[in-house]
Amino acid sequence: MRGKRIMAAGLLLSMSVLSLCACGRQYPVAEDKIYVGVAYYDKSDTFLNEFITCFQKEMEKGETFDGNATVTVRDAGSLQQTQDDQVKELINAGCDVLCVNLVNRTDPSEIINIARENDVPIIFFNREPVAEDMLQWERLYYVGADARQSGVMQGELAAEAIRENPQIDRNRDGKIQYVVLEGEPGHQDSIIRTENAVNTLKNKGIELEKLSCGIANWNRAQAQNRMMQMISRHQNKIELVLANNDDMALGAMDAYQKLNYTEAALPAFFGIDGTDVGLEAVREAKLSGTVYNDKEGQAAAMAQLAVAAVTGKGMEKIRFQDGKYIYLPYYKVTGDNVSDYSEESISTLQ
Ligand code: GAL
Ligand code: CA
Repeated sequence: MRGKRIMAAGLLLSMSVLSLCACGRQYPVAEDKIYVGVAYYDKSDTFLNEFITCFQKEMEKGETFDGNATVTVRDAGSLQQTQDDQVKELINAGCDVLCVNLVNRTDPSEIINIARENDVPIIFFNREPVAEDMLQWERLYYVGADARQSGVMQGELAAEAIRENPQIDRNRDGKIQYVVLEGEPGHQDSIIRTENAVNTLKNKGIELEKLSCGIANWNRAQAQNRMMQMISRHQNKIELVLANNDDMALGAMDAYQKLNYTEAALPAFFGIDGTDVGLEAVREAKLSGTVYNDKEGQAAAMAQLAVAAVTGKGMEKIRFQDGKYIYLPYYKVTGDNVSDYSEESISTLQ
């Protein structure tokens, strides 16, 4: 409620500034205040919740923007229609810029149309729209990371672990029997991560035998269910679990725990993200490795871009790819370097 009132005050303020700009709404805001609307696909997503917390801190800490920034967040509960309505509401409430994590990354047209009619720039994040849609309007941007790189790094981590720990090949047949837990079908980070992780392992000379693959939509509970099914089919044959994210790797571990497997009988697990729980599992040596999805870097880039898109200042300092994309690198994390990823270390690294 309080947020709404603040936004309504923002609307009045933006309108009064607007009415002074007879030439239209190019850079309509009072320079000491900006209103940012964030719409994301689902509040059950661990990585995105951590990412959005970083973004809020980034906007509010006053380094990116020395005025007063208000961030309003809406979760779409995995429904594109809900997100379209939320975007309309955010624009009507006077948001100066939108940060949108699409529910359906192939369906941004309605959002783009409303934003364009109101001349509110959009920064898409994490769920990358297809290239043609990004060309629909010049005030569209994307902040994220390169899916291929995360897959390659996961493959490299797994290959190193297999070389260093021959006991991962538990039945000693010279091949690694593996399963994959995949994120949402159609998400740029699902297929590409899997393909690149598997190809990298093969290129590194690791012989693989795929036992099974299950979709668990980034979700820990769904991954636990899928893993229970795979274990019941393959029993103790599974030597390696490649998960498209940490939550699903943790769900796979939950399944083994539920079935009371002893440590020696467990496969090696690999995730991606480096969420708080993911890093904790690496620290405890339960997760053999993860790939850090740099939420701090992405949040800082999105904050900088949001301010530049609204005020028109600082755009020249941003290093875009193809004029509208910002990709932050991933990093490999194992037990050896996980201490660099404590909260304190990350904030001093930035
Ligand atoms: C991925 C991330 C997943 C999930 C997904 C949502 O980049 O690794 O954990 O958050 O985005 O779009
Ligand atoms: Ca084997």
